[in-house]
Amino acid sequence: MKDDEPQLIERYTPNERSNHWITAICFILLALSGLAMFHPAMSWLYAVLGGGQWTRILHPFIGVVMFVSFLILALRFWHHNYLDKDDIQWMKQMGDVLNNREDRLPEIGRYNAGQKLLFFVMVICLVLLLLTGIVMWRRYFSAYFPIEIIRLSSLVHAAVAFVLICGIIIHIYAAIWVKGSIGAMTRGYVTWGWARKHHPRWFRESIK
Ligand code: HEM
Repeated sequence: MKDDEPQLIERYTPNERSNHWITAICFILLALSGLAMFHPAMSWLYAVLGGGQWTRILHPFIGVVMFVSFLILALRFWHHNYLDKDDIQWMKQMGDVLNNREDRLPEIGRYNAGQKLLFFVMVICLVLLLLTGIVMWRRYFSAYFPIEIIRLSSLVHAAVAFVLICGIIIHIYAAIWVKGSIGAMTRGYVTWGWARKHHPRWFRESIK
C-alpha cells in the first residue's frame, strides 16, 4: 500500500452486500407496484411490472422474496442491533447528533441508536406485511379468511407499507448524508477516518 492511500476496514462481506441489495431491489419494486394498486392517481406505476395483471401476479411473489431475503439479513445483523445504555444517552443528545458534534456523544459501536431503532421498525413492518399480505393473496389464501379479516388486512398492509416507505426514505437519506456509508454497502470497505468518526467503539474493536 502507498503511504497516501487511506487504510480500510471491511464493514460488509460480499454475501452481506448481495443480501442487502436483493432486499433493496425487491423493496423498490414492491413500493412502486404497491402504490400503483393503492390509488388510481398512481396507476401509471403499473408499467413498472408490465401492467395491471402482471402487477397483481408478481407483487405478492416479490413480497415473499423480500421477506426471505430480509429475514436472512436480519438474522445476520440481529446481534449488532441490541440497544444499550449508551444508545439511550445518544437519543437524549439529539441536538448534538443533528449538529455533527460527535465528540460530545457516547462512543458509538457498529451502529448508532437511530440505525438500531430503524432496524426493529423494519423487522416489525416486514412481519406485518407478510402476514397481512398472505390474507390478501386471493389466488391462494383469501378463501380461508372471512371478508372482515381480509378488509382489515388491506388496511393494515397499506398503513404498514406507508411506515416502511417513510423508514426507508430516512435510511437512504442517512446513507447519503453520512458520506462514505454507500461505499460500505457497495464496495464493502470504509476508511479508518470514517470508522473513527462515526463508529469509534467499532473502530477500536475492529483494529485490535
Ligand atoms: C433502496 C435503497 C437502500 C440504500 C441506498 C441502502 C443503503 C444502506 C447502507 C449504505 C447501509 C450501511 C450503513 C452502515 O453500515 O452504517 C445499509 C445498511 C442496512 N440496510 Fe439498507 N439501503 C437501502 C434499502 C434497504 C432496505 C429496503 C432494507 C430492508 C427492508 C435495508 C436494510 C438494511 C439493514 C438491515 C442494514 C444494516 C443496518 C442494521 O443492521 O442496523 N436497506 N443500507
